[in-house]
Amino acid sequence: MEPQAFVALIVGVTGMAGLSLAQALKKPNCPGGPWKVYGAARRSQPIWFPSTVVDHFITFDAVDSSDTQVKLSPIAHEVTHLFWISLQVRQDEEATIIVNETMLLNVLTALKSSTSSKLTHVTLQTGTKHYMGPIFDPVHSTQLISHDPPFHENMARLPYPNFYYALEDLVQSYAPSLTYSVHRSSIIVGASCRSIYNSLVTLATYAAICRHVGLAFRYPGTKYTWEHFCDMTDAGVLAQQHVWAAVTPEAKNQAFNCTNGDVFTWKSMWKFLSELFDVEFVAFNETLEFDLVELMRDKGSVWEAIVEKHELHSTKLEEITCYEALQTVLRFKFQHVSSMNKSREYGFLGHVDTFKSIRFWVEKLRQMKIIPSYHH
Ligand SMILES: *[C@@H]1O[C@H](CO)[C@@H](O)[C@H](O)[C@H]1NC(C)=O
Ligand SMILES: *[C@@H]1O[C@H](CO)[C@@H](O)[C@H](O)[C@H]1NC(C)=O
Ligand SMILES: *[C@@H]1O[C@H](CO)[C@@H](O)[C@H](O)[C@H]1NC(C)=O
Ligand SMILES: *[C@@H]1O[C@H](CO)[C@@H](O)[C@H](O)[C@H]1NC(C)=O
Repeated sequence: MEPQAFVALIVGVTGMAGLSLAQALKKPNCPGGPWKVYGAARRSQPIWFPSTVVDHFITFDAVDSSDTQVKLSPIAHEVTHLFWISLQVRQDEEATIIVNETMLLNVLTALKSSTSSKLTHVTLQTGTKHYMGPIFDPVHSTQLISHDPPFHENMARLPYPNFYYALEDLVQSYAPSLTYSVHRSSIIVGASCRSIYNSLVTLATYAAICRHVGLAFRYPGTKYTWEHFCDMTDAGVLAQQHVWAAVTPEAKNQAFNCTNGDVFTWKSMWKFLSELFDVEFVAFNETLEFDLVELMRDKGSVWEAIVEKHELHSTKLEEITCYEALQTVLRFKFQHVSSMNKSREYGFLGHVDTFKSIRFWVEKLRQMKIIPSYHH
């Protein structure tokens, strides 16, 4: 048998982007395929994880250099492509930079130190914080001056600490022995309960809790975002872009935005979600402003009851949701939209209708028994 040409190591395979990427790489007609896929995560394989999408599942802690060395050096002579889809968030941006940089450095060291290293390309998954600055940092976030949207790739770096910049610099320091591509996504929509930021699961739990206890499913954002444009990134489109850049010579050493290619208003999204989650649509009312984070703070036991009633996988509300991050996005004072024209000019044409995408992933999350489905 021919040795496989391309061997992928996906670090962060249990998150929504990592899982979609593994699925894309294992499709029979995947560009560059057939791929051999190693999937790695910090914690062991979750029950809902479809084990056929990876050839081997590796559990290791990238923060720990010796654990990383032990687990990855045995495959260093095989892995041609590193897909860095991992994300850990610390209390502030400086701490996040240190930990992210350390993790990536540990992995690159383990894969590159072997004399038979086959690594040629690194794919970095980042996001629009590249253009906005550290929006979740407790100090920096209060004084950010972001770029004007729509964001595009050749905008200068902002003068704030940003772990995305640190990761790009680290990967660039390996040139020319490694090529790289950077993928700046918007709000990612996909199916996993192991992602730090999963807005769709967050919205779905909020709606399920409202439905269960008879609360109105009210919009926790502002009039501005209710009426203005926003965009999203389907995990499947993102995976297609990861693969495209990994096998396309013109895409080497470039950064690309990645969105679905359309825009929506939260007003239209809220109508759509209300129907999908089987709750009454409530129009935004500025005089009834409320704090979603506060509202959800004591709802852990309600979620437990929902999990039990619908026989879902056992999850803890605070582990699968990101109410604070979602609320930050819904209170942006600018339109969160990215330009896809560079990506298109380079030849990536992947796109999806955002509403169809959400319907698809909600169905998936229901099949995976992560969120409830309602029968009429
Ligand atoms: C990497 O950065 C992300 C985003 O800020 C952060 O959430 C995460 O904790 C960082 N990872 C580490 C290991 O610091
Ligand atoms: C991403 O989109 C933003 C907003 O449109 C734009 O300013 C930025 O240049 C884009 N970046 C790339 C790499 O295309
Ligand atoms: C908003 O809520 C207030 C307080 O309940 C109510 O008096 C008002 O009529 C509402 N506005 C709209 C547009 O529904
Ligand atoms: C398209 O993207 C390029 C970056 O490749 C940017 O310089 C340009 O301003 C963008 N055009 C529009 C209309 O956004």
